Amino acid sequence: MELKNNTILITGGTSGFGHEFATKLLNLGNIVIITGRDQTKLDLIKKTLPQIHTFKSDVSDAEQITQLYQQVTSQFPDLNMLINNAGEMRKISLHDSSIDINDITREIDINLIGPIRMVQQFLPHLKSKPSAAILNVTSGIALIPFPIAPIYGATKAGLRSYTKSLRIQLKNTNIKVFELVAPGSKTPLNDKFNNMDGFDEKLLMEPGKLIDTAIKGLQNDKLEIYPGIARLLLIMSRIFPAFMLKQLSKPGAKEMAG
Ligand SMILES: NC(=O)c1ccc[n+]([C@@H]2O[C@H](COP(=O)([O-])OP(=O)(O)OC[C@H]3O[C@@H](n4cnc5c(N)ncnc54)[C@H](OP(=O)(O)O)[C@@H]3O)[C@@H](O)[C@H]2O)c1
Repeated sequence: MELKNNTILITGGTSGFGHEFATKLLNLGNIVIITGRDQTKLDLIKKTLPQIHTFKSDVSDAEQITQLYQQVTSQFPDLNMLINNAGEMRKISLHDSSIDINDITREIDINLIGPIRMVQQFLPHLKSKPSAAILNVTSGIALIPFPIAPIYGATKAGLRSYTKSLRIQLKNTNIKVFELVAPGSKTPLNDKFNNMDGFDEKLLMEPGKLIDTAIKGLQNDKLEIYPGIARLLLIMSRIFPAFMLKQLSKPGAKEMAG
């Protein structure tokens, strides 16, 4: 797809990949709209990049998605691309009885239900455009579970499955459906995993480089984009699934054992 003159909505654009996408897509000549839950962070971005449009919106809240849809489509009727990027990853011991049954599914609300609802809400609008795209950000952890973050892994595997179905169902429309299978990267999402036994920070990719690869993939119509070691993870997860699970079970192994 041509990444110029589009109007692009990015969920979670205040840090990490979302912020990289926003800056780079703006520089390519697109109108960029970002969301986030924290007004202070949104205001800060607006100060440094005044061309970016910001909306405070929590992707885990259905009412806020509907409100976002109304505001964005009335102010930006040319909106033709949605990047479902907002996400959270938590280190969770399933032995921890202090986590209540509402809180245990929080990542599902943000990382899986959020994108599904965003697509449901924005799909008729995107269908009305001559050319449109949806990009869902999954993870290498969609390919192999990461036991220290058990709910996160389930959300990304679920989002990957949903994205494949969405692509098939939209095959006769003007909407291209992309998946960014991102490998581990140096963003705030990973801060809580740094210095953890068995977690190799050297394997984390620079977010700027990762998003450059994602943008090239979009421009070349690669529907599944595997930056850095993500392609190797895909191959290894197919040939040696048990070995790969063993490797990804190393970080936090003691904590997880109860
Ligand atoms: N970094 C990695 O290693 C890695 C690897 C694979 C995939 N990913 C995926 O890449 C995406 C971006 O992650 P990142 O690494 O860039 O993380 P990040 O730096 O922590 O950024 C997450 C962004 O999402 C926003 N956000 C979180 N919860 C939200 C909610 N409920 N509603 C709206 N916005 C929300 C955050 O803003 P507020 O907190 O202000 O709302 C922030 O802007 C995520 O889907 C993540 O799972 C990351």
